[in-house]
Amino acid sequence: SMVEKGGYPHFMLKEINEQGAVMRQTLTGRTEGNVVDLSNELSWTSDWARSIKKVHLVACGTSYYAASVAERVMGLFTDLDVRVDIASEYRYRSIPIGEDTLAIFVSQSGETLDTLAAERFAKEKGARCLAITNNGLSSIAREVDDVLLLKAGPEIGVAATKTFTGQMAVLYLMALYLAKLRESLAKDEETRLVKEMTCLPYKIEGLLENSGPIKSMAEKYSLARDFLFLGRGFSFPIALEGALKLKEISYIHAEAYAAGEMKHGPIALLDRAVPVVVVMPDDELWEKTLSNVQETKARKSPVIAVTTVGRESSLKDVEDILTVPSTEPELSPFLTVIPLQMFAYYVALARGTEIDQPRNLAKSVTVE
Ligand code: G6P
Repeated sequence: SMVEKGGYPHFMLKEINEQGAVMRQTLTGRTEGNVVDLSNELSWTSDWARSIKKVHLVACGTSYYAASVAERVMGLFTDLDVRVDIASEYRYRSIPIGEDTLAIFVSQSGETLDTLAAERFAKEKGARCLAITNNGLSSIAREVDDVLLLKAGPEIGVAATKTFTGQMAVLYLMALYLAKLRESLAKDEETRLVKEMTCLPYKIEGLLENSGPIKSMAEKYSLARDFLFLGRGFSFPIALEGALKLKEISYIHAEAYAAGEMKHGPIALLDRAVPVVVVMPDDELWEKTLSNVQETKARKSPVIAVTTVGRESSLKDVEDILTVPSTEPELSPFLTVIPLQMFAYYVALARGTEIDQPRNLAKSVTVE
């Protein structure tokens, strides 16, 4: 009913709108005075943190994209060898895993069988295992050495939204905390990032309040058969997540590529019938992505740019622009994902699909 959906027509829209609150809740008790402290939840010591050499991030679906953002973040703060893998692949690789490995399993439900099996595999090899989950009583949470909870509240919509934001928030805090224990994070860097993280709930809420224009824009594109999503750096996993959201609930074929890779294949598909969503927040890769926008325009594809407010004037030829507030470049994923979730929602609404219960999909997949 509308009541259990908090007055929203769908759980997905309710959950999208809860993201500012989720982020606030996730930071509570973990950041104080612009300092991150997870010592109440993690048993990690400085000696242990300095003894490890590798970090493996393992997950499925949307959780894999949150893990992919974290892979890039951890690379910035530490000199650890960080890799991200899909749970159903991780187990079948011959890569060294041992006591020098922190293996992180990101799973909203904590019940995804592939992720659970990957966790057992890493544990067997001696890795220290951490679960990042929304369910502290789940199978994965019960088996690992350490747990960090999302505190996102129950998510009903099959397409994950608020738990993606919660996962990224917890992963950023964990990355900062680990770097701190290893003494590889400068104090002013910690202050800069934690301070901005505490501002993000307000920015997310402001963005959601001004999301009105996305509806009519989404209607305009709702008959497209294929979409391409592009992004570089932190925005590549966000492009992947944007494409996944659109596929899951609207059933439109959507494919995401690292923007620099477009010339190696997907550019052959472009014409006026294929809209291209370009995720290009204000960061050091902006100009490079702008050149991909120009290549796309030359093939007559309509471009929907997701960019930072203030950058519109350089995007005059672009059909549609969705702006996000400015933030620290490393934190842009928290803002750029929001218009993509809304876009997928309104495209699906225009197509009349079952938004909260898409065909063939399950909220958690407990088979291999
Ligand atoms: C299913 C859901 C996705 C989710 C994935 C991983 O495919 O439909 O929304 O991202 O499982 O789920 P998990 O609970 O492990 O995060």
